[in-house]
Amino acid sequence: MPVTLTVNGTRRTLDVPDDMPLLWALREVLDLKGPKFGCGIGQCGACTVHVNGNAIRSCNLPVAGVANANVVTIEGLSADGTHPLQQAWQELDVAQCGYCQAGQIMTAAALLRRTPRPSDADIDQAMTGNLCRCATYHRIREGIHRASA
Ligand code: FES
Repeated sequence: MPVTLTVNGTRRTLDVPDDMPLLWALREVLDLKGPKFGCGIGQCGACTVHVNGNAIRSCNLPVAGVANANVVTIEGLSADGTHPLQQAWQELDVAQCGYCQAGQIMTAAALLRRTPRPSDADIDQAMTGNLCRCATYHRIREGIHRASA
């Protein structure tokens, strides 16, 4: 049955199986390659997007579960890549291989919406589920502080 949702500000109706993971719908149907496949079981955070403003794993969330929801991917976080987090990430060269970084930024953006001036403890708590094989955690934390300044 078709599923209708809003993705990055555009209303979309997708003719996909109800149980297709949202990540597949975004990457393979809508060609939004920012969210990444890492573990596929909700454990690494590479697939993180916003659903109604909350940072959500998209790899194990059936697309039918977000019917009529407002979904934002890294491509829609800012119109031109100038979100304060994206600017801070560039200034501080946060990324190493970069694979996890869209998910990191989406989780951080949800944190800053809730807590505009997060402490180290706030950041560590919010970001704990977003894994980085390159261990860029110290720069991620610095980037979030810079974006919140
Ligand atoms: Fe979704 Fe790892 S790919 S949490």
